[in-house]
Amino acid sequence: MTELILARGADGAIDTPALREAFGRFPSGVTAMCALGDGGEPIGIAASSFVAVSLDPPLVGVCVQHTSTTWPLLRDRPRIGLSVLGDSQDAACRQLASKTGDRFAGLAWHTTGGGALLLRGATAWLDCSVEETVPAGDHVLVLFRVHRHRVHADNAPLVFHASGFHVLSGLDRAS
Ligand SMILES: Cc1cc2nc3c(=O)[nH]c(=O)nc-3n(C[C@H](O)[C@H](O)[C@H](O)COP(=O)(O)O)c2cc1C
Repeated sequence: MTELILARGADGAIDTPALREAFGRFPSGVTAMCALGDGGEPIGIAASSFVAVSLDPPLVGVCVQHTSTTWPLLRDRPRIGLSVLGDSQDAACRQLASKTGDRFAGLAWHTTGGGALLLRGATAWLDCSVEETVPAGDHVLVLFRVHRHRVHADNAPLVFHASGFHVLSGLDRAS
């Protein structure tokens, strides 16, 4: 039998790179979680931990690191936009995650009445408010209520997998 790696070793330490690699085998999309600040400035981060949670009521979730310096600026916004990134937005995604520079430079975006910021080129838009936050280890699980949404079916989704960006290859054997 193939040995499994202990998530927490005998010394109590977690092998973070190994665990991150295991988690990273789960492919996901990437969202841009953005809103306008008090001064009208765009605020946001890239987040791949998006999960659709409930249809009725309409809820989605995102896990945010405790170390995020942007989440404290976002969490009190009345509305937050979740843009599910399209397959031409890999560079935009890196930019939205970068620690330096203008995260919104060169990006086309608009806002809703409540200040949710949505990116052009996305494959779907969700206009959300924070419903609940749940502490979860070194992250906080943010539950969002979805108020409005729109699909852009012409834009295929960007796929994040094993620390890299991918596009769907059209495999439909599973159906
Ligand atoms: C592909 C990708 C996915 C990411 N997913 C998440 C995520 O799900 N949760 C999170 O807190 N940060 C995520 N990040 C990191 C944030 O985008 C951002 O870099 C981080 O919050 C640090 O910036 P801040 O201090 O301005 O918040 C991701 C970054 C990349 C490039």
